[in-house]
Amino acid sequence: MNFNEIKKLYDDYVLSTYTRQDLCLVKGQGTWVEDVLGKKYLDFFPGWAVSGIGHCHPKVAEKVTHQLGRILHVSNNFYNDVQPLLAKKIIEYSFPGKVFFSNSGAEANEGAIKLARRYGQGKKYEVITMEKSFHGRTLATLTATGQDKVKEGFLPLPEGFKHIPFNNIDAVVNAVTDKTAAIMLEPIQGEGGINVAEKEYMRSLYKLCQEKAILLIVDEVQTCMGRTGKMFAYKHFGIEPDAMTLAKSLGGGFPIGALVVAEKHKDVLGAGSHASTFGGSPIISAAALGVFEAIEEESLLENTNKMGAYFVGKLNNLRNKNKVVGRVKGMGLMIGVEMELEDASSLAVECMKEGLLINCTQKNILRIMPPINVTKEEIDLAIEKISKVLETV
Ligand SMILES: Cc1ncc(COP(=O)(O)O)c(C=O)c1O
Repeated sequence: MNFNEIKKLYDDYVLSTYTRQDLCLVKGQGTWVEDVLGKKYLDFFPGWAVSGIGHCHPKVAEKVTHQLGRILHVSNNFYNDVQPLLAKKIIEYSFPGKVFFSNSGAEANEGAIKLARRYGQGKKYEVITMEKSFHGRTLATLTATGQDKVKEGFLPLPEGFKHIPFNNIDAVVNAVTDKTAAIMLEPIQGEGGINVAEKEYMRSLYKLCQEKAILLIVDEVQTCMGRTGKMFAYKHFGIEPDAMTLAKSLGGGFPIGALVVAEKHKDVLGAGSHASTFGGSPIISAAALGVFEAIEEESLLENTNKMGAYFVGKLNNLRNKNKVVGRVKGMGLMIGVEMELEDASSLAVECMKEGLLINCTQKNILRIMPPINVTKEEIDLAIEKISKVLETV
C-alpha cells in the first residue's frame, strides 16, 4: 500500500479524533524509525514517550517471544506466573506497597481517583490537581486535568475536583478543606510544558498531606522508567507518595498502566472494588519485565543523567547563538525548550522534514524525550538538524 491508500483508509474508517502528520511509520529499531517510503528518522519523541528504551528493544522482544510460546492472557480470577514478578520489581524500585495493573495512563489515574474516594469513605472526596496538568481522557481524568481544552463538550463533569496553580504551596494550603481526600500531581508536567516541581514545594506538599491525612498521588505516567535519571521522578524530591501511577514506557511499546499503592493503604481497594480484564496479562507483564532488565543491564539511569546533561549543554549553546531559543528546562532526558515565538509547532514539522521527530506542546515548548539509551552521536545529529531548522526562522 502506498501512503495515499493508507491515508484514504484512515479517512474512510478511523474516527478523526487526532491531528496526524503526513507520516506513516512502518519500522523502528532503537532511536530510529522508517516511514513507508523508506526514509529514516531520528525519533526523539518515541511513541509519545512509550518506547522509552527505543523501538523494538531486544530485551522486550526476547521476553515477549518467550511468553508467546507459553500463554498470552490469563484472567485475573486465576493466578499467572509473570504479573507478580512485575509487581515485585515495581515495589523494589519504589516504596513498600502493592500494585494494580491496567492498560493505560488514564486507567491507572482512574484507579487512583477511586482509591481517593474509597479512602475518604464518603466524608472526604475532593481531589486537588494542578493547573496545566494532564491526567488522561476518561471522564474522571479529564476532569482532573487542569486544561480546559480537554473538557469542551463533555459537561456535566464528575464532581469533587479542584485545580490550583502548580509550584505554589500557599495555593494548596488555601484549597485544602476537611473534604480533601487527595492531591494528585505530575512531578514534571509533560503536556503542560515540561514544568519541574520545586524540591521545597514537593517536600511541603508531602508534609501537609501527612499532617492532614490526605493522599499524595504522583502521576508518573510520563516520567517513569528512568526518564528523569531515576527510575521514578518522585525520588528526586526526598518524599514518598501514598500512591503512584505508571504507564507509557513501562511496557516498552506494549499497553500497560499501573497503580502503586503504599502498604498502609493496601486494603482501601479490596476484592470486587476495581478490575480490568486485560490488566497484568502475562504477555504484557513479560514486556515490562524486559524494560526493567534493559535499564539494569545497560545502566540506563546513568546514561540518562550523562546524556541529559550533554544534551542540555548543547541546547544552551544553541540558545547563545539564536534569539528565538529560550530557556531549556527539564530533568534527565525529559527536556523542554521554551521558544520565543507565539507558536513553535511549525518547527516540530520542519524538524520532521529534516528527519528528526520531536513534539511541540503548549504552543511554544519543544518537547524532546529521546530513548534513554540515546548516544552522544545521535544527540549531535539531532542538534545539527535543529540548528538547520532554526536558520530558517
Ligand atoms: C502525566 C500523564 N498522565 C496520564 C496520561 C494519560 O495516559 P494514557 O494516554 O495512556 O491514557 C498521560 C498521557 O500523555 C500523561 O502524560
